[in-house]
Amino acid sequence: MLLKIENLTVKVQDKLIVKDASLNVSRGEIVVLMGPNGSGKTTLAYAIMGHPRYQVVKGRILFKGEDITALPPHERAKKGIFLVFQNPPEIYGVKVKYLLDFISVNRDYSDLAEKLGFSAESLHRDLNVGFSGGERKRLEVLQMLLTKPAVAILDEPDSGVDIDSVKIIADAIRELVKEDTGILLITHYTKLARYLSPSRVYVMFKGRIVTEGSIDLMNKIDRCGYQCIDLGKCSLERCFNE
Ligand SMILES: Nc1ncnc2c1ncn2[C@@H]1O[C@H](COP(=O)(O)OP(=O)(O)O)[C@@H](O)[C@H]1O
Ligand SMILES: [Mg+2]
Repeated sequence: MLLKIENLTVKVQDKLIVKDASLNVSRGEIVVLMGPNGSGKTTLAYAIMGHPRYQVVKGRILFKGEDITALPPHERAKKGIFLVFQNPPEIYGVKVKYLLDFISVNRDYSDLAEKLGFSAESLHRDLNVGFSGGERKRLEVLQMLLTKPAVAILDEPDSGVDIDSVKIIADAIRELVKEDTGILLITHYTKLARYLSPSRVYVMFKGRIVTEGSIDLMNKIDRCGYQCIDLGKCSLERCFNE
């Protein structure tokens, strides 16, 4: 098992956000984590990455069998865990090119950058400053491709992004999977997830992973919504729960 989250409970500023969450990602596997806004998906992603404000009060995070729960974020990154941020921050004074040169260690990435929609000129801009939603996400994905992580967590790479960018992002994910990277895709839309044919879908609701299943679960979510998945309450006439 590449990444194993065992009964993780996460606190943010004295508030329990994620409760007893367990999930697994294997090599070359795409796993999807879905859930409505505010259900704790980003909190779980930050906890996996080791964000200091997100305190693990119970459970553990195993990477290739090693307990990494207490490691600082940069150590996790060095081991091969990569997070594509939901909201990539603007960083003034850091040129895109500087960061990409640093990540790629002198490999030529101009073709790849171009494929992801970045001209040579755009690489001289400050990181994410004035970038559109789609550009920010594509830039995160470019960094991910250059890093070649063992496991990549993508936090809503499809939100605020046009359809062409979604396709570019999906292709990039497929490329990584071919090289055996394990993918944890966080999203609340089913479009990108369907396009990638994940092997497993987890649903988070109010901080808990309430169910786990196959692609079929996404059909249910599209038909009935998350409320129904968790509580079995649905106003649709032909609900799957009936
Ligand atoms: N730093 C924080 N301080 C206080 N509350 C937070 C913080 N981060 C997240 N939360 C709260 O935790 C809940 C889950 O948030 P989040 O993990 O961002 O959910 P999701 O990614 O599923 O939309 C929300 O109610 C949010 O307001
Ligand atoms: Mg989120």
